[in-house]
Amino acid sequence: MNDAGVITNVADTALWMAYIRAMENQRAGAVIRDPLAALLAGDRGRKIARSMPHSATTAWGMIIRTSAIDRLILEALPLGVDTVLNLGAGFDTRPYRMELPSGIRWIEVDLPDLIESKNAMLRSHAPVCSVERIGMDLSNRSSRNELFAKFGKEAKNGLVISEGLIPYFSNDAAAQLATDLYGIPSFCRWIHDFDDAGERRKMPRSWAQKLEAAPFLFQVKDWFEFFKQTGWHANKVITSADQSERLDRPFPLAFPLGLLMYALPKSMRRQVLSATGAVMMEKSRL
Ligand SMILES: C[S@@+](CC[C@H](N)C(=O)[O-])C[C@H]1O[C@@H](n2cnc3c(N)ncnc32)[C@H](O)[C@@H]1O
Repeated sequence: MNDAGVITNVADTALWMAYIRAMENQRAGAVIRDPLAALLAGDRGRKIARSMPHSATTAWGMIIRTSAIDRLILEALPLGVDTVLNLGAGFDTRPYRMELPSGIRWIEVDLPDLIESKNAMLRSHAPVCSVERIGMDLSNRSSRNELFAKFGKEAKNGLVISEGLIPYFSNDAAAQLATDLYGIPSFCRWIHDFDDAGERRKMPRSWAQKLEAAPFLFQVKDWFEFFKQTGWHANKVITSADQSERLDRPFPLAFPLGLLMYALPKSMRRQVLSATGAVMMEKSRL
């Protein structure tokens, strides 16, 4: 048992995210109410989150992104969605915290140990719709494609979500995943977060050190063009700048990133905050 709050594998990043939602839950005027997040994050989630540098900025970014993805899901569901496939679901609790149609089929996929512990912790809690969980390493292309084929056949109108997953895939692996999802006719839409800062994005060294066991691998010059090449185009984009203004939740004035951000002219600050956000993608004809 690692008690020092060190990230030892990529699944630990899910504890970190859950802790951020647990903190948000306690906040007056929380934009995400996630009463199960503290249970799921546990003590390790707290230690991991507290050991990460730039914690206020990261929490802001995660809450902005999660709430933007919530909005996109609520826009997508009335379009006839019958199945949601959440890849790299981590300790996400949308089927417990959101008002979703009870008839929807919600499937979560993540690494086997994480899924086992999530199942155990949520055993006595009831989701608003049917939830299935699959423990699988999504980098195993043949098993994941079997899974996609099975759910693809059973779904009429599928929505894929992958929040915070793509950064842990190499460019080639992300392109394969996008191509494989594109190949399933009933997977009509895909919602995830984007980071279009391209080569301007430099991860602070202190962060890279903490994420040594779960490095960010995905780096492309043009995020939207990359996915367009695999057949997916952006249908609706919510930038962090838009969502931050909508929620009246400005970038935190925390040292040092907040000070650097507020030293920028407003238009440039908006430009920086528009390079990230959430997107709903649909298929183009290739
Ligand atoms: C940053 S967390 C995000 C979790 C969740 N979507 C959220 O927003 O709270 C990244 C998630 O991707 C999962 N993940 C990364 N690589 C994976 C892989 N190859 N197979 C399955 N899950 C993976 C991790 O286990 C982790 O739960």
